[in-house]
Amino acid sequence: MSSPENRPLDPEPKPDDRVDHALRPKLLPDFIGQHQIKENLSILIEAARKRGEALDHVLFYGPPGLGKTTLAHILANEMGVNIKVTSGPAIERAGDLAAILTNLRAGDILFIDEIHRLGRVVEEVLYPGMEDFSLDIVIGKGPSARSIRLKLPRFTIVGATTRLALVTAPLRARFGAVYRLDYYDLEAIQAIATRAARMLDVPADEDGIKEISRRARGTPRVALRLLRRVRDYAQVRADGMVTREVASDALNLLAIDPLGLDDMDRRVLKAIIEKYRGGPVGLNTIGASISEEPDTIMDVVEPYLLQLGFLDRTPQGRVATQRAYEHLGFEYSEESQPKLW
Ligand SMILES: Nc1ncnc2c1ncn2[C@@H]1O[C@H](COP(=O)(O)OP(=O)(O)O)[C@@H](O)[C@H]1O
Ligand SMILES: [Mg+2]
Repeated sequence: MSSPENRPLDPEPKPDDRVDHALRPKLLPDFIGQHQIKENLSILIEAARKRGEALDHVLFYGPPGLGKTTLAHILANEMGVNIKVTSGPAIERAGDLAAILTNLRAGDILFIDEIHRLGRVVEEVLYPGMEDFSLDIVIGKGPSARSIRLKLPRFTIVGATTRLALVTAPLRARFGAVYRLDYYDLEAIQAIATRAARMLDVPADEDGIKEISRRARGTPRVALRLLRRVRDYAQVRADGMVTREVASDALNLLAIDPLGLDDMDRRVLKAIIEKYRGGPVGLNTIGASISEEPDTIMDVVEPYLLQLGFLDRTPQGRVATQRAYEHLGFEYSEESQPKLW
């Protein structure tokens, strides 16, 4: 939650982030879609409440914008506890983590975003914290140094990451529950966009919402962003009402195609097709050839293209599929494809 005491660790929110924050569902029943995760979380919550204990440590992973941060806050609200928000790269030294942990009260949640970016040394301080709720600190230096063990109250770590593979095995093993968030189906995205339109007072009809949802790549954050851009367009170029036509015109102007691909998605696919004859080609090479961070491609672009079946991942690198060729209007022929095996 946004109580002042947990803001300092949070980076300065951008204006859109503030809207996001206001739109965040506060309790589990308001969280749309992801039924299996919701059900599992509700059991986790109820069991912990019944026993009067802190929640087990929870790890959420999946592409950006699917609700990891939202769920962390929901857990705190449902448990009626405080949540401190930080991130892997923000905890630079072991001492920073020690300071955070010793300030937690029993039951509190420490949300660590981008937990795969925690430093090695910091991570090692976290292990006994998560396991035995204790903290080993070294006092003094050299031969006279000694280590003392502090008892911590029982707290909960909620971690989030877009890269499960980069979370070390020992850290992963210390989470009692690990959940993967997947892209939302169209119906869920529509429900999310409808709710947001109502909360933001955006007049929209069902077809308008549908058009936005179809191009939102199964991602709530994208749906909310497109809704805001379409609202702008509706107010400036139309009578304010979001209809199918208005949404479609606005999204075309933003170069977001009917499948939700944007300029960056297309540049990635085109680079593979035009410069590397469909691949296989490594991610770093693709990134360099279109001047984009390989990390961004991996987190944001690739998962959705994989989901669409536009991209294949092989041991030799990424390969554009026939569907990708066809969608972008390129001629596909078996012979032009490099032999993979
Ligand atoms: N299931 C959902 N129902 C309603 N809104 C959602 C849902 N999941 C995400 N959102 C909205 O999408 C935005 C992005 O979610 P967030 O939790 O920040 O994603 P992540 O942390 O995975 O990147 C938030 O503003 C939130 O309001
Ligand atoms: Mg987040």
